[in-house]
Amino acid sequence: MKTFDKDSFLGFVSKIEAGYIDIYFPSSEVFNKGRGQVGGFVVIDGGQFGFLARMDSLNLHKQENEIIKDSSSQFSVSGRAEILLVFETKNPDNVQKTAFQYPNIGAQVFSCSDEQIQKYIESFGKKTPQEICIPLGAFVSSGSIKCNISLNALFQRHCAVVGTTGGGKSWTLAKLMESVSKNSKTKMILFDAAGEYGSLKTKSLVLGEDSYFPYQKLSIPDLFILLRPQGESQKPTLLEAIRSLKIAKLSQKGDIFKKAYNPRKEYNDLYRQYCVDIENNLCDFEISNLIAQIKEECVLYFADAWGAADIKLYDLQASLINKIANMLNTALFNKLFGFKDIPQNFVSIIYAIEKFLAPSQKEDNILRINLENVSSSFSAKEILANAIGSYLLNKARNRDFKENPIILFIDEAHQFLNRKSNIDNADYQPLEAFDLIAKECRKFGLFLCLATQMPRDIPEGALSQIGTFIVHRLINERDKAVIENAASSAGKDILSFLPSLGAGEALLIGIDFQMPLLLKIDKPQNPPHSDTPILKS
Ligand SMILES: Nc1ncnc2c1ncn2[C@@H]1O[C@H](COP(=O)(O)OP(=O)(O)OP(=O)(O)O)[C@@H](O)[C@H]1O
Ligand SMILES: [Mg+2]
Repeated sequence: MKTFDKDSFLGFVSKIEAGYIDIYFPSSEVFNKGRGQVGGFVVIDGGQFGFLARMDSLNLHKQENEIIKDSSSQFSVSGRAEILLVFETKNPDNVQKTAFQYPNIGAQVFSCSDEQIQKYIESFGKKTPQEICIPLGAFVSSGSIKCNISLNALFQRHCAVVGTTGGGKSWTLAKLMESVSKNSKTKMILFDAAGEYGSLKTKSLVLGEDSYFPYQKLSIPDLFILLRPQGESQKPTLLEAIRSLKIAKLSQKGDIFKKAYNPRKEYNDLYRQYCVDIENNLCDFEISNLIAQIKEECVLYFADAWGAADIKLYDLQASLINKIANMLNTALFNKLFGFKDIPQNFVSIIYAIEKFLAPSQKEDNILRINLENVSSSFSAKEILANAIGSYLLNKARNRDFKENPIILFIDEAHQFLNRKSNIDNADYQPLEAFDLIAKECRKFGLFLCLATQMPRDIPEGALSQIGTFIVHRLINERDKAVIENAASSAGKDILSFLPSLGAGEALLIGIDFQMPLLLKIDKPQNPPHSDTPILKS
């Protein structure tokens, strides 16, 4: 394959501006052969360096405006092209983002073959030739240019798929998972918020229907968000009750730890003995005893002993006790968190994730966690997703994914991210597992691929860590501005396409992509069930 093939000669560089060149086409015949058209790619022979550019506009060459008589007549044309890449002429695979190199006036311009473009795109982000590329789609401007994208360039710095409803985010996520699954052994976990991905032929768990998150693995702040104890009156009592229940369990001193009229020495000694386990921030205590223990905490407090019941303090706990009783007795929550009487066919999601991730498990490489049945009351959906996220975060920090990185796909990520605003009391810790994964886990091999309607939903800290954006139709100016800021490599010109993209069309922008790619994403083999229902007469 020749980079500059004289048979594909188009014309000469006639003007140079920052980022752009004008081209003089001596003959209009080239257009009849389908070359040099707007949206098409051209290469420029600049001596030591070659340039790849995309045609932006064409117009009749000025002096000849008068002599055009009919469409068959010969005339010359000038056009404008945006310079996208610079490469070494001797080694065209050595691609750089345009920097300070420009061709000279008079440099020859050629049309660029589909094959050559495909090669450039495959080289984006590749650090070694062995790295694999996965098929994702084709150029919108030319369906014959298939785009195989480096797997690492796509995910290694996290990926966000954004766009208005119906733009094609869920289908893109399905296509990404399908391509990763066909071409690599990478394991993926999908958070399916709306239950759309039933068509995926893979291991699936429906939280609350066949699986539960063991409450013992919730963090104390997660439990606080579920129960929302009130400030100074309830929070310390709840925390003390949790400590006491942990002591009771660890020391096997019965179901609850009796306090009224007892000296404090035994408690203090046991606390010292089990301090690390008590303060491990997890809910690994018997939650069915929590209400009884709270009552036990409401006692008078002396220097070395507890006294009689403190009725006033107990009265203050009424709303908290109500909430706990309500939560423990609601069948739905029981099925989600396994508080008591876990149905026999239910499996712990933690156990299922461990089993799925085990190196010996080679059958499935996607685990779908369906959250459609999870109620949003008590913020259960966010808390559950956050708890699973925290669990994976800890595994990542433990270097479990260093050898075999995994990708976490989160559709409808706005339901899980940045929920701080939903939680009215600023005292509670935000649900920040996914933020922390975005910030910390690139180097630990836990990669995020988020899909959301509004890029504004992604917390700023996490947003700034995202290296790849697949942007579907996007209309809102503020959302466009977020993308513009986050993906510095995207020029304003290319972003102007965003409001008019069709379903499945998207702009791929990223740190590792030397130029933005306007793609029509391939239809996945098993698309999610997300068709818009049709209104009928
Ligand atoms: N790559 C594609 N090729 C062809 N059609 C597509 C493609 N992607 C999406 N579509 C069409 O667009 C519809 C909506 O796509 P999808 O459900 O992925 O949108 P979405 O962005 O996830 O919307 P929402 O934000 O409401 O979840 C699909 O049902 C399908 O008809
Ligand atoms: Mg969707």
